[in-house]
Amino acid sequence: MKPTPAKTHLDLLETILNYIDEGIHVVDSEGKTILYNLRAAAIDGFEPEEVMGKHIVEIYPSLNNETSTLIRTLHTGEPTEEHQQTFINKKGKKITSINQTIPVCLQDNTPGALEISRDITQLQDLVNKISNLQNRLHLDQGRDTASLAHGTRYSFDQIIGKHPALLKAIDYAQRAAETSSSILLYGETGTGKEVFAQSIHNASPRHDKPFIAQNCAALPKDLLESLLFGTEKGSFTGALSRAGLFEQANGGTLLLDEINSLNIDLQAKLLRVLQDGRVRRIGGSKEKEIDVRIIATSNIPPETALKEQQIREDLFYRLSVVLLRIPLLRDRLLYDLNDLVQHFINTYNHKFHKNVQGINEDVMNLFSAYYWPGNVRELQHVIEGAFNLIGQEKIIKPEHLPPYLELRVQNQQPLNSDYHLIGKPLNQALAEIEKQLIQTTLDLTNNNITRAAETLKIKRQTLQYKIKKYGL
Ligand SMILES: Nc1ncnc2c1ncn2[C@@H]1O[C@H](COP(=O)(O)OP(=O)(O)OP(=O)(O)O)[C@@H](O)[C@H]1O
Ligand SMILES: [Mg+2]
Repeated sequence: MKPTPAKTHLDLLETILNYIDEGIHVVDSEGKTILYNLRAAAIDGFEPEEVMGKHIVEIYPSLNNETSTLIRTLHTGEPTEEHQQTFINKKGKKITSINQTIPVCLQDNTPGALEISRDITQLQDLVNKISNLQNRLHLDQGRDTASLAHGTRYSFDQIIGKHPALLKAIDYAQRAAETSSSILLYGETGTGKEVFAQSIHNASPRHDKPFIAQNCAALPKDLLESLLFGTEKGSFTGALSRAGLFEQANGGTLLLDEINSLNIDLQAKLLRVLQDGRVRRIGGSKEKEIDVRIIATSNIPPETALKEQQIREDLFYRLSVVLLRIPLLRDRLLYDLNDLVQHFINTYNHKFHKNVQGINEDVMNLFSAYYWPGNVRELQHVIEGAFNLIGQEKIIKPEHLPPYLELRVQNQQPLNSDYHLIGKPLNQALAEIEKQLIQTTLDLTNNNITRAAETLKIKRQTLQYKIKKYGL
């Protein structure tokens, strides 16, 4: 069907609103609906006509002026934080949504309120399923005698590398494996944080108990809270009695990935659990003693996470009893590139039933010059990719590599050709060099300002100022 041309911006806006995945509901100063998109109607189980022009209390008889977030925001002029709610909609369907209410000013200068809802019913169901499966898995695996049980794959002997900083991290990690102290692992993406966490668990006296990993950035706050701490029946509509990850990991290790993305309120709650050694399920009255070792990870430097208030200071000190830094691949190329390449060639020879012998000199030069923003994981994927293209050949050549690799390596040396600067005033030449260096660093860090600032050893704000100044 050919779309009808939008006559005004308002028509266009209406079309957009009807295609986005969030429910949008706007009321005027009297609390009457003036905008209600199709998604909001689907979430609430209404037809838009049933809602347009009506007062909130008329649409939802169970609400009143105090309990309706839209009316409250209308009166207070204050936004509400994102909050999760579970309710039965008009069509009798149980819905879990995340809502946020914001005060707005309407065209005639009167106040209004806007509610944005995200339907997370399916996500909630998935979390429930995963949580149940994990519970069952740990019950089954309690009977398992295999050395790397509980879904883990790594132990210290599989960590490849001889760079002194890596060896130091392994040594500290091995010592820490003996104790139950919390550990904070810092390393950029793909440096091997999960490998370290699993190795620590498997070398610890807890190795025959569960190892559970949860990414703190993956789920909305309330879902994560119920997943971590568990729920008691009736705590909010439809909640079942279920053990949280802390209880499931009892006796073992809980890996909390990307701790710097954990909501600040949850960080406070986590700190309390760590200090007391007890958890209380949401909606529950009893506390249960738990013995869980926490390994947390951060892929930004802990100092930055602290400075930018992404991690509470008290939690940071509680977690970083042992602080391990995992070095970047580009910093250990000289020591470890050969061994890692050979390791992954062996792995994929085995997996793909091939007999690849190695890489040629050009590939070695490329690998040595490349910046490896994705660290060991990226190297592993590059070699896996080469196995897909290599056919019957025995040596990996540049044509078996992704083209971006060579391009990026070429772009890494823009400062070598500085003849064009000769004859220019010093401040202008320096500015050009600065601009170029910033641009290259931004390219190499995929425009990650925090990382680019770290590489350039300047403040994030300074970098942002310079980006603006040079129009980058
Ligand atoms: N030292 C190492 N020796 C062998 N393989 C490694 C090493 N470090 C990492 N790897 C491999 O690299 C991949 C990425 O490692 P891992 O998942 O531990 O990274 P990560 O630091 O947790 O990354 P992210 O922050 O993206 O989660 C894995 O497949 C792992 O096998
Ligand atoms: Mg990881």
